[in-house]
Amino acid sequence: MSQVDIKALIANVDALPALPGVAAQALAVFNNPKATHRDLADIISTDQSLVAGILKLANSAYYGFSRKIATVNDAIVLLGFNTIRSLILASTVKDRFSQPVPGYSLAAGEMWKHSIVCAMTARNIARRVKFASPEEAFVAGLLHDIGKLILNLHVGQLYREILEQVSTGKVTFNMAEQQFLGADHAEVGAKVAEKWNLPSELVDTIGNHHLTGGAGNLSQLTAIVHVADALCLMLGIGLGGDGLLYSLSQEAIHFLGLDQSTIDRLMLEISDYLQDYENFS
Ligand SMILES: [Fe+2]
Ligand SMILES: [Fe+2]
Repeated sequence: MSQVDIKALIANVDALPALPGVAAQALAVFNNPKATHRDLADIISTDQSLVAGILKLANSAYYGFSRKIATVNDAIVLLGFNTIRSLILASTVKDRFSQPVPGYSLAAGEMWKHSIVCAMTARNIARRVKFASPEEAFVAGLLHDIGKLILNLHVGQLYREILEQVSTGKVTFNMAEQQFLGADHAEVGAKVAEKWNLPSELVDTIGNHHLTGGAGNLSQLTAIVHVADALCLMLGIGLGGDGLLYSLSQEAIHFLGLDQSTIDRLMLEISDYLQDYENFS
């Protein structure tokens, strides 16, 4: 009963958004073990809006530096390669994520708020559970719903049918997306991440953040992003029309070893991020 063949659409790589050239070049530096801070700073410096975006984020209250970070080189030295990678991606997607996403009933700014607060939450959970790369969790949290930008129009057209299907109580929102469109926003997002040459663990996590295939073979990164997303939705952050129509996997919570008191503390910290994110924008 699929009315739009999204599978065919996403098979066409050209139809997916490309990572802007400078961001792509900068990210390639991270895969080159011989690259230096200087190489990275030189590439970033060719794009003044990227420079401005990185410095704005690096100087946000979230990172809490007492003195102003004035140059990209300072930002790289003080924050480190991995955090700069997160800032490059955040700065790159921010404008697009700040636009309204009407297919999911997300007003202007809501997609960005959901994504950036989810990214901070994922990094927080990653640190608590001693995941090896908290910045990877930040990036996965930031980009987990990127597929919504591509499905936006199609979901908007089929919104009533999708909701009707979900209201039967048998499927979640993303399962209904699959039924009507041939793919859900998670799978489409994974295709974008693949096109951007992000690491395969990140691609898998974006593609499975609603644990559609169940909690078997769950990776730690996927569990982290799944729980971060669910907590943000429970707090109504960037809820949109679909936010309450997903399930939270108790297996993911147990897999990470999170108890109720830790979850309560996380919820409080997410509320702090809500204050911070204004500065982080
Ligand atoms: Fe999602
Ligand atoms: Fe989400």
